[in-house]
Amino acid sequence: MEQLTMCSRQGAFTLPIETGQTIVQIAKTANVPWGYLCERGICAQCRTKVEEGMEYLNPLTEAEKKRLRKAERTEGYRLGCQMKIETPGSVRLVHKPY
Ligand code: FES
Repeated sequence: MEQLTMCSRQGAFTLPIETGQTIVQIAKTANVPWGYLCERGICAQCRTKVEEGMEYLNPLTEAEKKRLRKAERTEGYRLGCQMKIETPGSVRLVHKPY
């Protein structure tokens, strides 16, 4: 079944897929602990490793291209406040602030 799995230091949370909202917005609504501050792609408190389902996400935003190093982007890092699920599919994320 398609689902969103969000892993943080507090554990793994499984949620239904929701398109069009950022991961930070989804976390806030679902009370999933997922660090964030600026929600503008600057602080990187929301840095997230995509372990599964990159193909279902929106393309990298300009803010992510500026804030994340190329090597990080290649390894699957995104910013939770910039990334959205665009099409339904299983997505697995790990919160990885610096
Ligand atoms: S909340 Fe600051 S970069 Fe995402």
